[in-house]
Amino acid sequence: MNNNILSLKENIPDIKDAKTFYIKKVSLKNFRNHINLNLNLTNSSILIYGGNGIGKTNILEAISLLNQGKGLRKANIENFLNQEKIIDITTKTWGVNVDFVSPNGKFNIGTGLKKTGSNKSRIAKINSDYTPLSSLGEILNISWITPQICVLILSSMSEKRRFIDRLTMSIDNLHLNRVYKYDKLFRQRNKILMQPNSDKTWLDTVESQISELSISIIARRLDLIEELENLYDIQLKNNHLTEHFPSVGITINGKIEQLLNEKPAVEVEDYIKSELKKSRSDFELSVSGPNNSIIEIFNRIDNKNLDTSSTGEQKLILISIILSHARLLDEKFNMAPILLLDDIIEHLDKKHRKALFLEVSKLNAQSWFTSTDMDAFLEYPSLIDKINLQEIKENFDGNYHFRYGDI
Ligand SMILES: Nc1ncnc2c1ncn2[C@@H]1O[C@H](COP(=O)(O)OP(=O)(O)OP(=O)(O)O)[C@@H](O)[C@H]1O
Ligand SMILES: [Mg+2]
Repeated sequence: MNNNILSLKENIPDIKDAKTFYIKKVSLKNFRNHINLNLNLTNSSILIYGGNGIGKTNILEAISLLNQGKGLRKANIENFLNQEKIIDITTKTWGVNVDFVSPNGKFNIGTGLKKTGSNKSRIAKINSDYTPLSSLGEILNISWITPQICVLILSSMSEKRRFIDRLTMSIDNLHLNRVYKYDKLFRQRNKILMQPNSDKTWLDTVESQISELSISIIARRLDLIEELENLYDIQLKNNHLTEHFPSVGITINGKIEQLLNEKPAVEVEDYIKSELKKSRSDFELSVSGPNNSIIEIFNRIDNKNLDTSSTGEQKLILISIILSHARLLDEKFNMAPILLLDDIIEHLDKKHRKALFLEVSKLNAQSWFTSTDMDAFLEYPSLIDKINLQEIKENFDGNYHFRYGDI
């Protein structure tokens, strides 16, 4: 076993056992099926293994909440609260707390449910100080892939846009805020329009903000796909990654994208404003914007579209995007993301498992795998802390101190 690791490492010198971006400690309180879970970790990658329903994905979901958004299951904040042992569900809250280490320092980051009267919100703290959720991305980046995403992304164009928006958030912390605000302003505009004598000045202001946001949301998405394209160009030239994972192309098309190609942004903004004005009296008229963008994802070598690829090919395309995005953040933005890879091994053949293990081993940040099958990780080519979740819950009262299992 050790010989295997050594011989692999000799061939691949850029393997990183000690990660420079890593979570050193995780505590979950009343989070889904974890009443009290404390994991003390080290600077290597992590495997959480155990039977179905033990709570593996719940741990990754908790970590995914260390960035803005609804996490890897897109859940509502009340759903995270443990439903079993809570006596008074109205007063209890859930919390996730981590010690995170990066080249920029050590941080304690927490997030949880806050109730004020009937209002519920998710709050975040960095080193005990309240912080907006959007600022979490300045400290750490989390990226993930789950079997559900692979299915969802094929189901609708809005899921594809959501996927791209999440990736874009990592290169611009305010991106998701803009996406949320855009939707909120549209709802606000509809309400104003429903009133018998709608306030025209108010409408002008709201529409002007919508137009401005449309441009910045679309421009940031285009920046992201351009960055990824450049990276894939380099990878293709160096024949890196492409051997096992496809080189991926992403296009985003729509009226605004097309106009931004032809005209200065201010002119496009005016165009959106005039479209919005026209549609005030005609609800049927659809207004071009980030919610109509058409996203195409395809294999650059054979031009096969994600939607018409085989299930296995689709997974490889999505894994390829996540890996390239991780490399982009690391190389260009000095912010390697913590990768959450839920049940991903189960869906790959032997060759691709090995390739994924190698790619992940080369990253500067800790990756978190979940699996029901510990044996699949026997040939993992770098250090990985293997956590038997069943044992931790049953024999150690939810407390874990790292050890390198049987490596
Ligand atoms: N709010 C909640 N309170 C209590 N338990 C919950 C809550 N939400 C989900 N659960 C339970 O948590 C359990 C563990 O779920 P999780 O998805 O993490 O399991 P898993 O180990 O990833 O399983 P699998 O191998 O099947 O993917 C499930 O049985 C689920 O019903
Ligand atoms: Mg799971």
